[in-house]
Amino acid sequence: MKSVSTDLYDVAQKVLNQLVDYVDRAQQGEGKVLSQAPYVQVAEALELETLLRKGGLKADNVEAWLKTYLLHSQHMHHPRYMGHQVSVPHLASGIADFIHGVINNPMAIYEMGPSAATIEQVVVNWMLEKAGWFDRESLHQLPHKAAGVLTHGGSLANLTALLAARAKVAPNAWKEGTPNDLAVLGSDVAHYSVMRALSIVGLGSQSLIPVKTNDMEVLDPDDLYRAYQESKSLDKRIMAVIANACATSTGLYDPIMEMGQFCKEHGLWFHVDGAHGASALITPVYQHVMKGLEYVDSMIWDMHKMLRTSTLSAAVLFRDKENMAKALSQKGSYLFHDKEEPGFDLMPYTIECTKAGIGSKLFWVLAAEGEEALGSFVEGRYAITQQFYTWLKDQADFNCPYKPESNILCFQYLPMAASNAEQLSVRNHIVKEGKFYITSTEIKGVRYLRVVIINPLTEMDDLKALVENIRHYKSK
Ligand SMILES: Cc1ncc(COP(=O)(O)O)c(C=O)c1O
Repeated sequence: MKSVSTDLYDVAQKVLNQLVDYVDRAQQGEGKVLSQAPYVQVAEALELETLLRKGGLKADNVEAWLKTYLLHSQHMHHPRYMGHQVSVPHLASGIADFIHGVINNPMAIYEMGPSAATIEQVVVNWMLEKAGWFDRESLHQLPHKAAGVLTHGGSLANLTALLAARAKVAPNAWKEGTPNDLAVLGSDVAHYSVMRALSIVGLGSQSLIPVKTNDMEVLDPDDLYRAYQESKSLDKRIMAVIANACATSTGLYDPIMEMGQFCKEHGLWFHVDGAHGASALITPVYQHVMKGLEYVDSMIWDMHKMLRTSTLSAAVLFRDKENMAKALSQKGSYLFHDKEEPGFDLMPYTIECTKAGIGSKLFWVLAAEGEEALGSFVEGRYAITQQFYTWLKDQADFNCPYKPESNILCFQYLPMAASNAEQLSVRNHIVKEGKFYITSTEIKGVRYLRVVIINPLTEMDDLKALVENIRHYKSK
């Protein structure tokens, strides 16, 4: 007897057909990007309580149910989705999710998923190669020097990197707790996951000694020495210097090269938060924004931002694998073996115990497209953002405060910029209306509208239509 019932098989087929049709229609820009109904209305429309208690989602009602579910979803595939730094996933990534969901190989122990564990290592090697840290002939070989591990998201990746930095400066911290004389240097607009990680690691968010930033919140490398001297005068030891690559709000990159040289000179751990912007490494046109990685000790890189995978999928990479080995204990060197085995266990290097085979998501995207096409995607999104900036600069009623370095752009609608609240009302109106999805942020206390041009189908016409829509709001 087959373990998959005929009904479940029919359900799966119907879901697949419906999703393909859904993506197709969303990609053609059909309907709204988002319509948000209140929570209880969504729960009732989806008959959650009944289905949860009694079951009954079957082949004969699944299409109606999924239609409702999709109706109340954020339509990432719609070309007018230009909101958060979250991938519009390549459908190949969904296939990886499906396979994992069926076979469920939590592969942090090699024997729990040799294929998935091997894919993770090869994907990590590919990322190390892009960072310039891979030192073998073939991606099938383990690197001599560097290492990395995949995590469920950039927040965990930042935390893992900072634990490694702590182990370096305070080797006994794992056993004895975090000493109270540790500090970090960086801009005060580091992503909140970094600030959280500082508290979780035991330093407290006050341990950040801010380095001055320019008007657009980019770290000023000329102020590093002053901040370093300040730490000395406070009897603090620097655990790490942290760079944004790029900053979440503006998409601008901190000067990695200058910061790295400073760290080298003073023997400091250098961490680069490349959650969003490390993907520039895969395009020859833009990889210069990440210059200086030879000075970096640890870097994070989210695949579920610019590499077209579904959530969650990120990497923490180390230029020296011994540092990774020490992040979560003081025990031995990388890939130590307590038993004879054909592979290796990642468990000693991850905060997570049970871990999905998340490398498969990126592997499937690359296997479908190849690395050059993925690079062209990143390049294209960075380029269109610059094109939008150039066009918007000539619109007298808009202000773009900086030239973009990535696919994130902030701008103001001047007729409604008398206060932050007024500017925010523009974003709220746009989102409520649902024809576009954009975000908003503050730079040095001033509110801006913000787009992340991450959908592969968004074109200049969509961006110009957004501008018209904003104007229309004012005239209402
Ligand atoms: C610069 C930066 N670092 C870290 C993160 C956190 O990553 P995740 O959302 O994958 O946990 C983000 C998320 O937007 C980010 O922009």
